[in-house]
Formats: sequence, C-alpha cells, structure tokens
Amino acid sequence: MNALTEADDQATTRTAEPSRDVWNDFAHAGPGTLAGRYMRRFWHPVYRSEDLNPGRTVPLRIMSEDLTLYRGDSGTVHALAFRCAHRGTQLSTGWVEGDTLRCFYHGWRYDGSGQCVEQPAEPEPFC
Ligand code: FES
Repeated sequence: MNALTEADDQATTRTAEPSRDVWNDFAHAGPGTLAGRYMRRFWHPVYRSEDLNPGRTVPLRIMSEDLTLYRGDSGTVHALAFRCAHRGTQLSTGWVEGDTLRCFYHGWRYDGSGQCVEQPAEPEPFC
C-alpha cells in the first residue's frame, strides 16, 4: 500500500515539459501576452526626446504595439493609438493643433489621452 502511494506521489509531482506556446508567451511582448502584461508595468525609454520637435508626429512600434508619438505646442509628449478610431487612418500622418492631434482624413481631433474631442462634419458628435 505504501509503495503504491509513493508511486502516485511521484506521478503527481512530476512536471510536464512546457509546451512551445508557453515559451512563445515569454518571447512575445504584445498586448495581452504574459511578457507584455509584465513589461507594461514599467517605464521604458522609447524615443530620444531631442528628436521629437513640437508639432511633430512619429509612428512608433514598441513591444509589438503600434503607437503614434507627438509633441504638442506646449512641449508635452503624448502617445496615442496608431490608427484613428473613425476609419483607421494612420494618425502620425495628421497634424498637431496645440496639444491635440487632428486626423488627416476627416479631421477628428484627439487630446493627449487619446480621447476624441472634436468630430467636424458630424451632425451629432459623439466624441
Ligand atoms: S479616418 Fe480619422 S477622421 Fe476619419
């Protein structure tokens, strides 16, 4: 009886080989991955400040996530989604107005937090 219990204990404590998916989860840092969730808990240098002048935008890919970086007229740097919420235009092709960013295509305007603050030509704006 004792030998059977010992064998059962060994079987239950043996660890299985990690699957390839588990290792991929450590290797990728995109949003929603294990490493991505962990890495997003810390600050990271993503761009040289002196290379981003006021009124300029740049597309940025960091940890498998596409973003738009821009410096407002006040000198504050903001990171927004890569694409416009309206029709998906690349936001880095837009232009800076004050501390907001206006989409190139239909002119939706976003503040530094990514909140849409203006929707020109919409009869009933819902931003
Ligand atoms: S795609 Fe940006 S405002 Fe339409």
